Amino acid sequence: MTDKEYKIAVFAGDGVGPEIINEAIKVLKVVTDKKNISISLQDGLIGGSAYDVFGTPFPEQSLNLALESDAVLLGAVGGPKWEGLDYSVRPERALLGLREKLGLYANLRPVVVFDELIDASPLKKNLVQGINIMILRELTGDVYFGTPRGVTRDKDGLRTGVNTMIYKEEEIRRIALRAFELARARKKNLLSVDKANVLESTELWRSVVTETGRDYPDVELKHMYVDNCAMQLIRNPSQFDVIVTTNLFGDILSDEAAMLTGSIGMLPSASLGETKALYEPIHGSAPDIAGKNIANPLATILSVAMMLRYSLSLPQEASLIEKAVADVLKEGWRTQDIFSAGSRLAGTEEMGNAVVRQLVSCDF
Ligand code: IPM
Ligand code: MG
Repeated sequence: MTDKEYKIAVFAGDGVGPEIINEAIKVLKVVTDKKNISISLQDGLIGGSAYDVFGTPFPEQSLNLALESDAVLLGAVGGPKWEGLDYSVRPERALLGLREKLGLYANLRPVVVFDELIDASPLKKNLVQGINIMILRELTGDVYFGTPRGVTRDKDGLRTGVNTMIYKEEEIRRIALRAFELARARKKNLLSVDKANVLESTELWRSVVTETGRDYPDVELKHMYVDNCAMQLIRNPSQFDVIVTTNLFGDILSDEAAMLTGSIGMLPSASLGETKALYEPIHGSAPDIAGKNIANPLATILSVAMMLRYSLSLPQEASLIEKAVADVLKEGWRTQDIFSAGSRLAGTEEMGNAVVRQLVSCDF
């Protein structure tokens, strides 16, 4: 029992966002009710749905809501309806804006293969069994934010597209510190991924990570080029524990690693700054299946577990949610993205209800 009221900003967003967020909130409420924790949930608009109302995907009031909250829970943004818009008002800008304005530089993407889903992975069972990798992606630097950027036209009318891959040493150092701390709390082995053989910005990355490592003699640090890492993730994923990498490489490698688990619909994430935090599934808004009650809510539910662990200081309750998800899978429930013959097909809502049932019967 605590007197503090946690303020949680909820941005359901676009596509399947509202459906999966509904299920995640149900799960969150079971835990906070049982533990007598008071939370206030405040909804805000972001992405395409905000654009439709305000003409911008990231309205001022949504930023303020996020800034005043202890944590943000986000569904997904984007969809074909807004794809023709100028970059400056695309739904994705809202996500980048939130990351930037809240200073969310550390993005944790745990890749955990549940035993029950081994057959859903396109890789052989012996490769993916027991996989538990933490990808730490730098989230507020690199080509995502570097300037100059844009498309220019020369006097003959020919266009040039430019983005700038850039890292300052202090940006590298703060993510490296997080990486070493994470590795220290796990198996004490850290892999830093770069392209230092070609790109100077990641040559700096490698040397700053190495310097930071001098204060962590108990953690074994290795380096790998990103192309090799992409290959090794498929060839022998069990060699990895904590991977730290740049914004762009982390974006790509985490989608790749998601497939080890069978479906991108299983991967949660936490984006942490010095004081703020945002939790979201790593999958997108999946407009093709939106509104049909078939999306997998588990990544969002697992994101709530991360919120309990990192923002509400409830690590045991976080583990209970993760266990409830494993138990629901054990019972045979599967949404269509992870369905296999012989299992029980669940819709979005049924899957959420199954997790709630498990949790309600847990001893807290
Ligand atoms: C992600 C997404 C985003 C990114 C998009 C939607 C801007 O792919 O969170 O991985 O590229 O960071
Ligand atoms: Mg991505």
